[in-house]
Amino acid sequence: MSQTWLAQLEQQARQRLPAPVAEYLMQGARDSISASEAPGGWSQQRLVPHVLRDVTNIDVSVSMLGRSQVPWGIAPTTLQRAVHPDGELAMARATAAAGTVMVVSSNAGTSFADIAATGVRWWLQAYLPSDRTLAAPLLARAVEAGAEAIVLTVDTPVVGTKYSSDPLVWDVIDPKMLRVNFDPGYEDAPGAEKALDLGPHDLDWLAGHTGLPVVVKGVLRPDDARRCVQAGAKAVWVSNHGGRQLDRAASTASCLPGVVDAVGGTAEVYVDGGVRCGLDVLTALALGADAVFLGRLPLYALVDGEAGVTRLHDELRAETVEAFRLSGSRSAADARGLVRAP
Ligand SMILES: Cc1cc2nc3c(=O)[nH]c(=O)nc-3n(C[C@H](O)[C@H](O)[C@H](O)COP(=O)(O)O)c2cc1C
Repeated sequence: MSQTWLAQLEQQARQRLPAPVAEYLMQGARDSISASEAPGGWSQQRLVPHVLRDVTNIDVSVSMLGRSQVPWGIAPTTLQRAVHPDGELAMARATAAAGTVMVVSSNAGTSFADIAATGVRWWLQAYLPSDRTLAAPLLARAVEAGAEAIVLTVDTPVVGTKYSSDPLVWDVIDPKMLRVNFDPGYEDAPGAEKALDLGPHDLDWLAGHTGLPVVVKGVLRPDDARRCVQAGAKAVWVSNHGGRQLDRAASTASCLPGVVDAVGGTAEVYVDGGVRCGLDVLTALALGADAVFLGRLPLYALVDGEAGVTRLHDELRAETVEAFRLSGSRSAADARGLVRAP
């Protein structure tokens, strides 16, 4: 059993966080089948390394929407202020120092302006409401605060049912920790419920409305990936929402190669779900991802505030460098195709 610092983060978070918060972070939808299968999607792959290659100087960086950075970013997650009082600010400071991108949840508990003031590069994650015009003020605030892209989450027409043994987290946290970037009273407005009729035209609307590149998060199928690209998506993000939406959704590791093939280099392809260590990062790149995103791992690290997230980036970088060297990869391009065909 692995005993690295990264591998211990989940257990540490379980011990130190209030039980309802820990449960909220860790749970999946329904029977948590997709949530529990996710890490295995990576560890079950088998790599065939190159040898007799000079790996003195290696470069693990990738390009994401035109910026060079480490091959991971921070996925959007709510409740960061319930994990640590500094919440999104701690996450942003550590992520800015690591030179990577943070995707800010539309349900964040810190204002976009304050997050942006840390100097982090950030993208806004958005859900669209039934009445699209209600999203306009949130989008305008994000553009004004310097968001560099909009990530449209498309796997959440309704929120997947989760079972809970503890009191619900919503009953124990201060409501001020959530949704501070919406207009007051937003949720009670007619048409504020999540859209059940999302379509490719919404990508066009978002891009036109914000002038920003649109990334589509929550794609598992090659045919949907193609539709996203045809509709103008600059990147397709393979995700099953950390197993929190449709339980029994296939693992992202198993869906990634089909999406990469379908997109065929016409847009970037990101992936998340169960990425917990540097070997997982290498494996995702080997399966064709341009970059990975981390959901729960940085939340667990955030228990120790900015220092915890800084250490997360450092440990993951060290593990990724080791994995690159051991696999004979001098670059992310070299890592492609290291996975043995089934
Ligand atoms: C506590 C928690 C809150 C999340 N909140 C959001 C959210 O607000 N918007 C969103 O698109 N995804 C959200 N996600 C999903 C993550 O962005 C990501 O897809 C998922 O966590 C990746 O899997 P991993 O946790 O195994 O890394 C959330 C996930 C967790 C665990």
